[in-house]
Amino acid sequence: MSDPVRFLTAVTQALSTMSLYGDDHPATTRGLETALERLQELQEIDPKLQFTFLSGEVVFGSEVVHELEGWEWSDRLVRAGIERIEMLGPIDVDQFGRFLSHMAMRLGIRPGSSTDIWQMGDSPIRYGQVTLGQGQNPMEILRLEPVRTMAYTLGEERATMDWVHNEIQKGAKIPMVEADAVVRSLSIAMHAEQAMVLPLLQLKEFDQYTTTHSMNVSVLAMALGEYLELGGATVRALGVAGLLHDLGKTCIPREILVKPGKLTDAERVVIRDHPVVGARMLLASPEPMELAAVVAYEHHVMLDGGGYPALHDARGAQYASMLVHVCDVYDALRTNRPYREAWESERALAYIKDRSGVEFDPGIAQAFISMMRHWDQRISTMPA
Ligand SMILES: [Fe+2]
Ligand SMILES: [Fe+2]
Repeated sequence: MSDPVRFLTAVTQALSTMSLYGDDHPATTRGLETALERLQELQEIDPKLQFTFLSGEVVFGSEVVHELEGWEWSDRLVRAGIERIEMLGPIDVDQFGRFLSHMAMRLGIRPGSSTDIWQMGDSPIRYGQVTLGQGQNPMEILRLEPVRTMAYTLGEERATMDWVHNEIQKGAKIPMVEADAVVRSLSIAMHAEQAMVLPLLQLKEFDQYTTTHSMNVSVLAMALGEYLELGGATVRALGVAGLLHDLGKTCIPREILVKPGKLTDAERVVIRDHPVVGARMLLASPEPMELAAVVAYEHHVMLDGGGYPALHDARGAQYASMLVHVCDVYDALRTNRPYREAWESERALAYIKDRSGVEFDPGIAQAFISMMRHWDQRISTMPA
């Protein structure tokens, strides 16, 4: 068992004991002391610690704790509004005890009121939510210190995605585990700051367009999903769908993709086929990715039925496809293309507003615009 696992296990044991015996029982005291010992072992290496809880996942510092994948307590903590715990320095038994009883109250293990906010005082423990925009409890956010220790370059994730695309080009099955891992890292990077900062990648070589673009669309789709309060599992599924929406492009010859001039009719047919090709690949993968396949198929379909391919279903494209469509267009406009310069964010947002109700679903377009306006000043663009 690794040290973070030992510590978190000891905390949950202490909390369970607390629920059985109450605060002053010797068993509770013992549980508390054991958890504190485990904490002090962890703090020997570095007294500053940070745990992030996503649904079904625990991140210690910037590392996913694989042993705790699917751990039921991470869901419980998220539901209780405890998405991040930070220890800023050494903690004494009194401070730790107060924090555990507060956690027990938040988790509904012992009675308390939801207005009972964490009286931080001199305690070096902070906790709170790390979600974007709406639904935050400002009292808790104020009590979270900005965390700027994690520098994400996402270089490894980009390399993984390049590899995923190469594998598919060679005709291999879609490596879903790797794609999932990339989405997980993007989600962590997105939540890494006290206030969410969208990590958008800058394009270096046009050859890397599909990789860079897929990762940006994935982050934008997850951010928009959170902004619309769609819930953890849906947000993650949108991240996967965003990452794989242009998978069909891996089958398009490079000369066509990077061609600076006008396309011939035959070339345009090849390009316009990528949604169908991508959807087919996703449905044929070992674990068929249904939502991702639908999104791949429909991400160029406009609200008024324009775009491609033509849908037979009069209800039009699915909500997830329309959501990814907005993110897709935004990132494409913000990128230098062989035939035009990248647009400024405001210009791209004005375009989306202008086409709202025709190309874009008005509700989704409006949410996207207000989300981007809110975050534009703080978007961190990762160097290529
Ligand atoms: Fe596309
Ligand atoms: Fe795209």
